[in-house]
Amino acid sequence: MLKEIKSVFVSEEKIAEIVEGLAERINADYAGKNIVLLVILKGSVVFASDLMRKLDVDVTLEFMQVSSYGKGSVSSGEIKITKDVQIDLNGRNVIIAEDIIDSGNTLKALIELLKNRGANVEVCTLLSKPSRREVDVDVKYVGMEIPNEFVVGYGMDHAEKFRHLPYVGILKEEVYS
Ligand code: IMP
Ligand code: MG
Repeated sequence: MLKEIKSVFVSEEKIAEIVEGLAERINADYAGKNIVLLVILKGSVVFASDLMRKLDVDVTLEFMQVSSYGKGSVSSGEIKITKDVQIDLNGRNVIIAEDIIDSGNTLKALIELLKNRGANVEVCTLLSKPSRREVDVDVKYVGMEIPNEFVVGYGMDHAEKFRHLPYVGILKEEVYS
């Protein structure tokens, strides 16, 4: 284990179980349909690549990268698109793949934007921190609810590090300060 990691919070085995469960629900809900799996860069790439390989519905893969205009660590409701999808989303079943939902601000703005483009939008997130929520967001597929801990790995970063870890870990406090 890396020296900066305090403990493993969600093991590789547990993640695989969670992903399997989410995929089963999506497979049941969208049987016979086409979905657009919308991967939000960069944090969601690892989760999405595991999830998509468990899906037996018709999947179109798209990517977006958004950044919020918020100052500091808490995101505001406004987002800037730094990478956009390459298809028309009007009438499409879009499932946003997210790594983790914190305040919900980024996601709320993104959902609004996609609905304005005519998409039917649902969200599938690996992790959620309900105690941190600032705005109401409708998240249909939640892998696991977690307390207010800063986690890294399995796509998630701190200062662009630790995304490659195969597990979700808790960072040591000294890494922040
Ligand atoms: P929100 O708009 O505040 O919900 O921001 C959610 C985004 O913040 C996630 O997609 C992550 O990129 C990032 N984030 C929130 N909590 C964590 C965490 O514990 N570790 C790593 N990234 C996080
Ligand atoms: Mg993210």
